Amino acid sequence: MYLNHFKLNQKPFNLTPDADMFYLGDAQQKALNTLAIALQQGEGFIKISGEVGTGKTTLCRKLMAMMGDNYHIAHINNSFVNPCEFKLLLAHELGIVLNHDVPSYRILLHIQKQLVMLARKNKKVVLIIDEAQAMPRDTLEALRLISNLETGKRKLIQIILLGQPELDEVLARNDMRQLNQRIAYQAELKAMDKVDSMSYLATRIQISGGHESLMSKQARELLCRYSAGNPRILNILADKALMCAFSEGDLQVDKKAVKAAIADSNAVLAKQGQAFPRWAVAACVAAALIIPGGFGLWT
Ligand SMILES: Nc1ncnc2c1ncn2[C@@H]1O[C@H](COP(=O)(O)OP(=O)(O)OP(=O)(O)O)[C@@H](O)[C@H]1O
Ligand SMILES: [Mg+2]
Repeated sequence: MYLNHFKLNQKPFNLTPDADMFYLGDAQQKALNTLAIALQQGEGFIKISGEVGTGKTTLCRKLMAMMGDNYHIAHINNSFVNPCEFKLLLAHELGIVLNHDVPSYRILLHIQKQLVMLARKNKKVVLIIDEAQAMPRDTLEALRLISNLETGKRKLIQIILLGQPELDEVLARNDMRQLNQRIAYQAELKAMDKVDSMSYLATRIQISGGHESLMSKQARELLCRYSAGNPRILNILADKALMCAFSEGDLQVDKKAVKAAIADSNAVLAKQGQAFPRWAVAACVAAALIIPGGFGLWT
C-alpha cells in the first residue's frame, strides 16, 4: 500500500461515499441549501437528481451527519422493492418490530401510529430514498400515500428522493403526475467545473494528511480534464495515479503517472463519454492532439 510511502493517514480517493471526506463546491452548497429550506418548510417531497457518480449518496451522507437530534432519519438504499417490502423496510427504519406474518394493510397502520408517536416527541421524520429511479411504479404510489399522512398542522413524514436522470423520466409520466406535483423543492448535481475539480483533489489530499503538492499541478489538470469533473471518475483515476507513482518509487504524482492511470481506465472513461461537459470535451480533444498517439478514448 502507498500510505506510508506518501505519508498519508488514509486513502484520499476511496470510492465509499464518506461524509468526512466531503467537498463543498457550488453545486453541493446549493443542493444542501435547498434541502435545508425544504426540511425547514416541512415540504412533503424533495428531489436531488444527478448523473451517475456526481455525488448524490455522498451529499445525503453529509446531510445525515448534519441533522440534529430532533430528526428521525429513515434511510432506504434498496428501492427496487414491491409496496409491501417497502412498507416493511420503512417500518424497520422507524423502529417498529413486526411479526413476520403481519398482513400488508396492517403495516401501514403501524407506520402511522409510530409517526404520530414520533411527532408527539417533537421528532421530524425524514425518509431518504437512494437510487429512487429504480423504484417500481406501484411502490412510488405507496410512497405517495405514505407522504399524505399528516397531523392537522404538518406532514408526519418528509421524503427525499435521490436519483439518476431516469428518475425525472419516471416522474414525467402521466400516471406519476400526482407525485410529481408534490415535489416542492429540487436540486441537480452536475459534473464539477475545472476550478471545483482542482480544489476537490486538493481537499481530499489534505483531509488524508497530505499536501496538495503530492500531485503536480499538471497532473491535477490532466485528471480534471479526463474525469470531466465527475467525482467518481476523479477518484478512480487519482487513486490509480497514486498507485502508478508508488510503483515507480516517485514521491510526487506527475503527468506520466496520470497518463498511465488513464490508459488503464479507458473502459470506465468511455462509459462516461456522453455525459462530459463541453469544456472537458474541448480540453480533451486538445490534449489528444498534443499527446503523441492520444489516448484510447479520444482516438
Ligand atoms: N462532494 C463530494 N465530496 C467528496 N467526495 C465526493 C463528493 N461527491 C462525490 N464524491 C465521491 O465520488 C464518488 C461517487 O459519489 P456518490 O457515490 O455519492 O455518487 P452518486 O451520485 O450517488 O452515484 P450513483 O448515481 O452511481 O449512485 C464517491 O467515491 C464519493 O466519495
Ligand atoms: Mg448513489
